[in-house]
Amino acid sequence: MTLRRLSVQNLRNLSLVDIELNSQLNVFYGANGSGKTSLLEAISILSLGRSFRSRKFKTLINKDQQAYTVFGLVQDSQGSELPVGVQRGRQAPALIKKNGAVCSTAAELAETLPVRVMNGHSFGLLEGAPQIRREFLDWLVFHVEPEFYGVWKSYEKCLKQRNSLLRRDKIDPLQLSLWDRELAPLAQRLDHFRAATQARLNPVFTELISGFRGLETVSMRYSRGWDQAIDFTELLSDTRLRDSELGYTRQGPHRADLRITSDKALALDVLSRGQQKIVVSALMIAQGIVFSEATSRTCVFLIDDLPAELDENFRQTLAGWLHDMNCQVCVTGVDKQTLLDSWKPYNPEKTVFHVKHGAVTQDLS
Ligand SMILES: Nc1ncnc2c1ncn2[C@@H]1O[C@H](COP(=O)(O)OP(=O)(O)O)[C@@H](O)[C@H]1O
Ligand SMILES: [Mg+2]
Repeated sequence: MTLRRLSVQNLRNLSLVDIELNSQLNVFYGANGSGKTSLLEAISILSLGRSFRSRKFKTLINKDQQAYTVFGLVQDSQGSELPVGVQRGRQAPALIKKNGAVCSTAAELAETLPVRVMNGHSFGLLEGAPQIRREFLDWLVFHVEPEFYGVWKSYEKCLKQRNSLLRRDKIDPLQLSLWDRELAPLAQRLDHFRAATQARLNPVFTELISGFRGLETVSMRYSRGWDQAIDFTELLSDTRLRDSELGYTRQGPHRADLRITSDKALALDVLSRGQQKIVVSALMIAQGIVFSEATSRTCVFLIDDLPAELDENFRQTLAGWLHDMNCQVCVTGVDKQTLLDSWKPYNPEKTVFHVKHGAVTQDLS
């Protein structure tokens, strides 16, 4: 999938942007505070229904305006175009539209325009809470396993019900058993989807990092959120007393994690910051590759302030990985030449944009 056209109105300092994007490389350069991250935020809104930078949607609306609008034309591999748009006012909920029809959930956008964001925050994947790595894995599971989203939604609903029962002063064991009976098969299916997806991701990731000195023993393991040896139904009945003391369900797919280790220690504790960024980049690229293999589509990579995050050598490696994947890339940085140098060996088709005081103009030189 590629985003061919992007129009933005009143999002942060971008008062009016209307650009045609390249299907390969798009370089956005400009001084700090010019609006580069805001531009990537606009693209991410077309995929997530919200920004990757902040969940406080009001901060996204230009401070002198009442609403922002982002519109895009997404092109699939056959060349057909699909219009998508998101509008959000200060008071009203977001209005999400796809092909002229209103969407009830942002998941419909994610299907149309799968986007991966690489920025300072995403490079912290190894040090964040398990939830961040779970969301990372689930992004791929969502796209690869069509039934995952529905099962996950049902699981969340059931879990909430069970937890609210557990918090009651007097717990009705019969009612609890009923919820346990619903929860268990959902948990097993989630585990199955995640394990299968991780098994596809693992060899691709291992291959990508295989050439790096010092990363020879890095490996990824999926931890499902409860003891491997125990059936989930059994677990729920064994831990019922403990769960009722705690007031919530302690174990389950909601506690799943990806454990990235190096020589049996957590990668976070032994790898340098630079090595961790290589590992995280390889994980994200592996996701992109598996996504393409499984869906015969490509996702869009948004890379914010690349030179600030990665050193020159690795920037070129990453550019090569992205080029091989043949996906659309939008990359930002202060200096145009530094960005172009990273892609120079691959000679991609490209469009260069200058971002200045919230205005975006195509560089024709
Ligand atoms: N709601 C808003 N209204 C107007 N301007 C904003 C709003 N939110 C942020 N800005 C401003 O938008 C500018 C662009 O920010 P950003 O996209 O982060 O720049 P860059 O990534 O190029 O450094 C900044 O000067 C910031 O202060
Ligand atoms: Mg920025």
